[in-house]
Amino acid sequence: MRGGVLQRDVADAWVRRSRLPHMVGLDLRAKIAANKNAAEQVLRLIDKYGADTVKSVMRRMMDDAERRLRAKLETLPEGTWSAVGYQEQSGSGDRGLHAIKVAMTKQGDKLVFDFRGTAGQTGIINCPYPGLRAGIVFTMLPLLAGDIPWAAGGLMRCFEILTDEDTITNASFPAAVGLLGRTLGVGVAADKNGSQEVLLAELDEFKYRLALHPAAEDVPREIGWIVDSPGELDRLTRRLEEAGYRREGSPEEAELRGATRLRWFTDPVGYRVELAVGQAKVRSAPARPNDGGRGITGLGHLVLAGPPLAELRELYETVLEFRLTDYRAPGLYFYRCNRTHHSIALARADTPSIHHLELEHESLDDVGRSYDRALANDVPISISLGRHTNDKAISFYVENPSGFQLEIGCGGIEIGDDWVPHDFGTSDVWGHHHIAPNPFAAS
Ligand SMILES: [Fe+2]
Repeated sequence: MRGGVLQRDVADAWVRRSRLPHMVGLDLRAKIAANKNAAEQVLRLIDKYGADTVKSVMRRMMDDAERRLRAKLETLPEGTWSAVGYQEQSGSGDRGLHAIKVAMTKQGDKLVFDFRGTAGQTGIINCPYPGLRAGIVFTMLPLLAGDIPWAAGGLMRCFEILTDEDTITNASFPAAVGLLGRTLGVGVAADKNGSQEVLLAELDEFKYRLALHPAAEDVPREIGWIVDSPGELDRLTRRLEEAGYRREGSPEEAELRGATRLRWFTDPVGYRVELAVGQAKVRSAPARPNDGGRGITGLGHLVLAGPPLAELRELYETVLEFRLTDYRAPGLYFYRCNRTHHSIALARADTPSIHHLELEHESLDDVGRSYDRALANDVPISISLGRHTNDKAISFYVENPSGFQLEIGCGGIEIGDDWVPHDFGTSDVWGHHHIAPNPFAAS
């Protein structure tokens, strides 16, 4: 709903993912009507009795419900009961079973629900913590509270929930419930990489620009560049081999990337760098939340940091022929491979890392909408809104659970062949206040 009007595209997306679209469509409308009616009735009560009185009665109702349910639980026998259910089809090709385990213990005047041992989050069958809590309410209240007012806030105090994080009943990012989808409005599709699951973020017309792999350690897995033609791929491969890089890559890997040919090598910090040709566009435009703009339009750039800065510069500038746009000597260099001001920046740091990855938004309003959603969803904002001096982009940065930052930006400039590389001096025209110390601050 927006401004009291049902958003048809969002409602359609909801209904079409169901086996019972007519039922679900009616159910959705009934839920909207019930919420609307409840809100009106609460406001009517507040008009009549005042907010303080209404709130104090609500608190008493919750306390009363809690007291009555605790009294009832006291009369029930002590013990532990357990069950295991299975969920299937976490994504296309998944033939596995994913266990949901629960042990319920009645202990005095409370119930403890222990979901530990439930399968790890996977594909598209994940449920975040609020869903788990709601599942308990739905099953317990009709069984235990038929004669008690359903003041759920009070009744839930009688239930304790034990659960591991990152499971299918308590999923967190990067399961398909979090930052990319809810805050940035990006579609995330489950796919297979050999036998391994992978989540693909649909940033633009291509199959994906960002892949999330399950791993024990949060490290960048590969950095990919699209090359113009097969001839150019061969030429760059020869240059890499002459510079001492060992070429690898298989047709299967190319297929996974949606490319016709792919080669990869290992860069001086140990990251896999891929060159590919033949990526096909798989959609005319990615699906986006219907809030007025196109939102994210693609992958902007990344900042790669590590100790061997000279070797990294040699690789990108001399071997792969990226062009230096500007810099702040001695530790920060911006390079381009097309008209965009920079597609990669190389920086000196004690340990190798991706400092940040920029997700390009169409407009300042799109950046602002992502900012609003980041605030609403408690996404940690690591660098405030600001404008960079060199590429003129306006952006803010959020932390992601893998330990590096995403820059949410728009308005980076394009430059021509007559551009002269120069030291750009200070980082920002305004803003970009860092929560943690800035590792690349001008000294
Ligand atoms: Fe950036």
